[in-house]
Order: sequence, then C-alpha cells, then structure tokens
Amino acid sequence: MSEKRKYERPLLKTIEPSMPSKTGSMTSVSQISEIDGMSLELLAAKEGTPLFVFSEQQIRTNIRNAKRAFSTRYPSVNFAWSYKTNYISSICKVFHEEGSWAEVVSGLEYQKALNNGCDPKKIIFNGPSKTVEDLRQAVMNDSLIHIDNTHELCRLLSVTEELNQQARVAVRINMNVGTYPQWDRFGFNLEDGSAWHTITQVMHEKRLTLTGIHCHIGTFILSADIYKKATMKMVALACRLESEFSFSLQYIDLGGGFASKNTLKGSYVNGAELTPSMDDYAEAITSVLLKTQFPSGQRPMLILETGRALIDDAGYLLTSVLNHKRLANGVSNTVVDAGVNLLFTSFWYNHKVSVVQTSGSFVEETRLTGPLCMNIDVIRERVALPILNPGDLLLIHHVGAYNVTQWMQFIEYRPSVVMIADGKMKVIRRREDYDYVTSLES
Ligand SMILES: Cc1ncc(COP(=O)(O)O)c(C=O)c1O
Repeated sequence: MSEKRKYERPLLKTIEPSMPSKTGSMTSVSQISEIDGMSLELLAAKEGTPLFVFSEQQIRTNIRNAKRAFSTRYPSVNFAWSYKTNYISSICKVFHEEGSWAEVVSGLEYQKALNNGCDPKKIIFNGPSKTVEDLRQAVMNDSLIHIDNTHELCRLLSVTEELNQQARVAVRINMNVGTYPQWDRFGFNLEDGSAWHTITQVMHEKRLTLTGIHCHIGTFILSADIYKKATMKMVALACRLESEFSFSLQYIDLGGGFASKNTLKGSYVNGAELTPSMDDYAEAITSVLLKTQFPSGQRPMLILETGRALIDDAGYLLTSVLNHKRLANGVSNTVVDAGVNLLFTSFWYNHKVSVVQTSGSFVEETRLTGPLCMNIDVIRERVALPILNPGDLLLIHHVGAYNVTQWMQFIEYRPSVVMIADGKMKVIRRREDYDYVTSLES
C-alpha cells in the first residue's frame, strides 16, 4: 500500500496594490504617455514597435551636468565620447556638438568618428585589437594612440618607421584599486612594474611622444572612493615621470565606468538612490588632483571617457503587448514584441517598465517576456504590471547604453531608432528589412 501523502493546506494570498512587496519595492506601476512632449502612441503609430526612442534634450542635460561638475572643480577637463556605448552617428554628433572628443576601440569606430566630423587630433584610439592599418591611419592623422600591449607597441614602432612619422601615445595602465575581479586584462600592470617599464621604453623611443597615461578601472563602479584610489595611483606615476625624466604629461585619462541610474539585478535598492552623483565622482577625482604638488607646478589635463552615465537615461524602448497568459504555476506572463536580443542589458539590470495607456490600479507580479521563442527571452523575471491587452504599449527605461551597439539581429528585424529633438521626431536609424538582412548572403 502506498504511503498516505501529507496534507498541505491551500494558501490564499491577497495582492495589495501600492504596498511594499517582500523585497521592499512598491507594487504600483508608473504611467508615461510622452517623452519631451511627443506622444508615445503617436510614435508607435508612425514608426511601429519595438522602437528605440532617444531624448536629445536629456543627452545635452547629462553632458552639460557632467562638464559643470568637473570643470567647476578643476581647470582643464575634457570628455571623450565612448563610441562603443552608443555609436549611432546622430547620438555621437550631439556629444561632439557639446565639445566631446571621441574614444574609439576599432577601425569601424575610428571611421565613424572621422565621418562624424571629429577632429582626428581629438580621437583617442583605445583597445587591444588595433590592426596595422588602424595604426597607420591613426599615425597619419596624428590621433592619440593608447598602447595596450607590447606586441602593439612593436607594431606601432614599425608603422612610424615605415611612414617616417612621430606618433602621440599614452600608456594604458591597469592597477589594483580593491575591486573584484580586478580589471587587469587591458594595458600594463602597475603593481608588477610593467607599466613603468613600458613608460620608460616609450620615453626612449625617438618616434614616440608620450602625451598621457590612461586607465579604465571597470564599469558601473558604485563607489566614488575607488576613483580616488585610482587617481592617487595615476598621479603618483605622473609625479615619478616628472622627477625621473623632468617630463610633464599633457593628460591623465581616467577612462569611463561611472554608474548610471539603472538597478542592478539582485539589488534591493533602486539604482537611482544608490548611484553616486556626477558631483560625487568629480569631488573624489579632482580633490586628489588639486592636492597633488606636481614637481613641474603644471597640472595635467583630466580626460574622462564616461559612457553609460551620460546616455542610459536618455534612451527608451517602446514595445507592444502581443499576448498574455498564465503559466502552469499561475504566474502572470505578458509577452511583448521586444526581445533580449535588442536589450542586452536586461541580463544585468532590472529595467524599469512603465505603462503608456492609463490602466487600473490593480497590479500583479508579472513575468515580462519577448517574442523570440526561446526560454532565455525574459526581460523582467518579476515586475508589477496590470493585466494588459494585446496592442497596449509599455515603455522600458534607461536603455541608452550598450543596447543599440550590442543588439543582435535574430529571428526578427532590428527596429528603428528615433530621436526626439525640438519637439520633433527624427529617424536616426531605419528599421531593417528583408533585403538588408539577406544582402550579404550568396
Ligand atoms: C577604455 C574604455 N573607456 C570607456 C568606457 C566606457 O565605460 P562606461 O560606459 O562604463 O562609462 C569603456 C567601456 O568598457 C572602456 O573600455
């Protein structure tokens, strides 16, 4: 005789709208019907969904705020727009109009920066994969080449020899600033002496002019204090160069990495409350620079390659509900027409989601999934949403960084990207079509 199974009493759980849930977040839903005065329903009707929407005003506000935070504290600061964060030309051009230089890591990005009208002397060429042809172009245009490894240094020397030209270079440094994992894959390590060794090598090469030192300590760094440590180490290196070679660097480049206002997965606190402000980062970095007694008495220029913190909140993804169902365990599941192939960052962030049309106040914890017919296509595991009908619109927030560069064409076409500028909508990248997707096949 089989054993009698244990009785488990059924559990009825009420869902209380607008009350904190187990994880402390409110279960109410935000509703947004327009961006910069432009109706989202109108945008969806004109361009279809999914649709990436950027606010030009927000981009300008962000870069102006960042420049204010740094330039009111330190006399010489420049931002170089990190192309990999978002290299749609109209977006890059807004940054260049606001005075940003370009920071690129490939021949493609370099070409884009040139075509976007960036002064070649204000293009910083970073990255571990510069080809001989990339190096040739950068040397001929007198761009700033940030050396990543010894093989690259040797290749660059051959190129300068072949072209009989000088190159302006900086040495990329990696260091221990107490973060884990340590970012030691790019550049030369400070603690093991290879950074100093490379600097002295560059100083002795007659075809190379050392312009600066560069580091990028990681990304989404939630502590301004880490930047203080990095700045102290960089400044010590600059001072050592001054005392041993009587040579002053033109700049110290601290790379990118400031956190945006997104909420990291697993975080109990909303990103907007956790992220240091631009003033916090600026204070941490410039206080070290200002306190340092450079032997030459000259302060180097500060360069920042800030990416996500300047663009994330200027980008949205507008998506339509395709259908709604209950999963076998009773969980509410809403399917939308934007998949994770368009939203790479949904693997790291709990993106905020708003409804566009007015909805009732009753919300339920919902799984938000995309159209990809793949189990991994989950935009939010749990998000408080009302029950929605096919055709209803949702707005996904803070998607401006690393999505329209890292997106994948997969199953569906990649959608249009539009920018709202002066109350008007501009298509800044057209939706793909059948001919585009198949054009390279033979
Ligand atoms: C060298 C360099 N600079 C700048 C950035 C931009 O970083 P973030 O978007 O975190 O500011 C990156 C991103 O990986 C980078 O590798």
